[in-house]
Amino acid sequence: MNKIVCRTEKIGKRILFLEETDSTNLEARRHVREEGAHGLLVIAGRQTAGRGRRGRSWHSSSEGGIFMSLLLKPECRTEQASMLTLVAAEAAAEAAEEQCGQAVGIKWPNDLVMRGRKVCGILTEMTLDGREMEAVIIGIGLNVNMTEFPSEVAERATSLRLETGRMLEKEKIIGSFLEKFEKYYTIFLEDGDLKRIRPAYEQRLVNKDEKVRILDPGGEYEAHALGITPGGQLLVKREDGSEQEIFAGEVSVRGVYGYV
Ligand code: BTN
Repeated sequence: MNKIVCRTEKIGKRILFLEETDSTNLEARRHVREEGAHGLLVIAGRQTAGRGRRGRSWHSSSEGGIFMSLLLKPECRTEQASMLTLVAAEAAAEAAEEQCGQAVGIKWPNDLVMRGRKVCGILTEMTLDGREMEAVIIGIGLNVNMTEFPSEVAERATSLRLETGRMLEKEKIIGSFLEKFEKYYTIFLEDGDLKRIRPAYEQRLVNKDEKVRILDPGGEYEAHALGITPGGQLLVKREDGSEQEIFAGEVSVRGVYGYV
């Protein structure tokens, strides 16, 4: 991989590049207790055990993808840390869009989509020291130059290359992501929530003003997505007119006609 250029103060100032690892999230976890760990970025050329949300795996054998994890020691409360996944989604969407020149949307809370297909997934995990939050690890899998996917995901996955018809430089996307992430991260820490990031996020939120299906373990239902709260929950209006905040950990959200 070529050099990654980024004008940041702390985020991505140390980068660990591995040709192959099990999972960059797991690799980052191994560095949590090191001095100066905050801001470390782990990048892998391939992952042998790439992990997705809800215990799924993440296709990571192809050199065409970005597989990276950012290690943070955020000065915020544990309950605020879940908002960082939306901060990362906005930064990754902006970086991808800037480099590929085409619109990149966000499916709440943190999938990036292009023309209704998923181009990037984010897995945010926390490590604890006793009961205290020790670190937050934000793992990002962005489909950049691959043109094929495993059959289970082929119907709803895409890559920047498939969408634009050209190869993109992964280093530029990563450098841009780090700069944008640091900018929003600073704002997030100042505010303690997403209120100043919300307008940018909602502009690319593909669910906004759309009907969504809420896959609640207690029962599925349809609702109208209004946007997000400053805490990052999805705000929906139910058919009886009541408004409800949806918490990401508890439910999945789908479009009424499919994934988006
Ligand atoms: C999802 O299911 O949408 C989240 C996918 C996250 C994949 C990335 S690839 C880099 C990092 N390492 C992992 O094992 N997973 C994340």
